[in-house]
Amino acid sequence: MQSTVVDLSHLLAPVKPEMQLVDTWLVSNLIDDNAFVSDLLAQVFKAGGKRIRPALTMLSSKASLPDGDEISRLHIILAVLTELIHTASLVHDDVIDQASLRRGESTVNRKWNDKLAVLIGDLLFAQASICLARLMNPQIVGIYGQVLGDLCAGEIRQMRQQFASVVDWDAYLQKSVHKTASLFAAGCQSSAILNRREELVVASLKSYGTNLGVCFQIVDDLLDVTGNTDQLGKAAGSDLANGVITAPALFVLEQNDKSASRLKELIDTRAVGQADGLTEALAVISQAGGIEKTVKLASKYAEAAKSSLDCLPASTYKDSLAAVADYLLVRTN
Ligand code: FPP
Ligand code: MG
Repeated sequence: MQSTVVDLSHLLAPVKPEMQLVDTWLVSNLIDDNAFVSDLLAQVFKAGGKRIRPALTMLSSKASLPDGDEISRLHIILAVLTELIHTASLVHDDVIDQASLRRGESTVNRKWNDKLAVLIGDLLFAQASICLARLMNPQIVGIYGQVLGDLCAGEIRQMRQQFASVVDWDAYLQKSVHKTASLFAAGCQSSAILNRREELVVASLKSYGTNLGVCFQIVDDLLDVTGNTDQLGKAAGSDLANGVITAPALFVLEQNDKSASRLKELIDTRAVGQADGLTEALAVISQAGGIEKTVKLASKYAEAAKSSLDCLPASTYKDSLAAVADYLLVRTN
């Protein structure tokens, strides 16, 4: 992993004006008749987040824009709806994970309760559906319908694999495609569809988004082991504590050695759910090389994402799409 700290806002500078429109939409357009709900929605988005999905959607829109065309309201709506679905899924995810902290703020389930969080998540999905209808494009409706199914399928798969110490890379990668890469791919691919681009461009941006999304999830899983709560704005170490076995642990478990059997024991007995067991498991993963192998795996997906951009003409937007793949490997939150 490179040691240079890359500034994401610098990479996204080519779409800064468009991203400001997206941000304004998210913070001020989610009006509800009920002032309490309006305030709550504004708070969820004011807490920030990297806005990486809408930014990639916007960069893809610009990188695949036919000569003479301009960015329209529809491109902004596509970016907004991508962030709405992402945020809705996090509000629901925090209920499932019983998480207390997100983006450095109390989660809706912690500040209020699970029932309200489920409803706020649903409300955000509803807002995303309205945006989707405004695009008047049945192909894009189908793609995002598939994404909603994928998000649920990914979560269900993860739930059913809890505390499973058997190494199954296919299951891990498939789950990562469903719960994360599917939404990344939808935004990138739908941009080219909005631009009425040929199948090669649509398929290339879908491939870029899928590979980038898997890379993003692998790094997310890595940061859960290497990061700290302040940096992440959410609880570190919570994957293992909840029995979610990800790449850094899988690499150690597949070794036929003492580290593998100790880690397996800590998972099988659910000792990882206790502070001491979790600390020991994280140390075993680090000492047995789980971090380095995970970085290599993430790099492989970042490279595949960059190669998918080959068919696009040279532009600052294409450069930014490639640079985001490198950024993901050095991000710290
Ligand atoms: C975060 O993963 C969660 C997701 C990427 C997807 C969650 C999806 C759902 C809860 C299903 C959504 C429901 C509908 C109706 C579509 P993580 O727990 O690995 O990341 P974290 O550490 O940031 O919590
Ligand atoms: Mg979670």
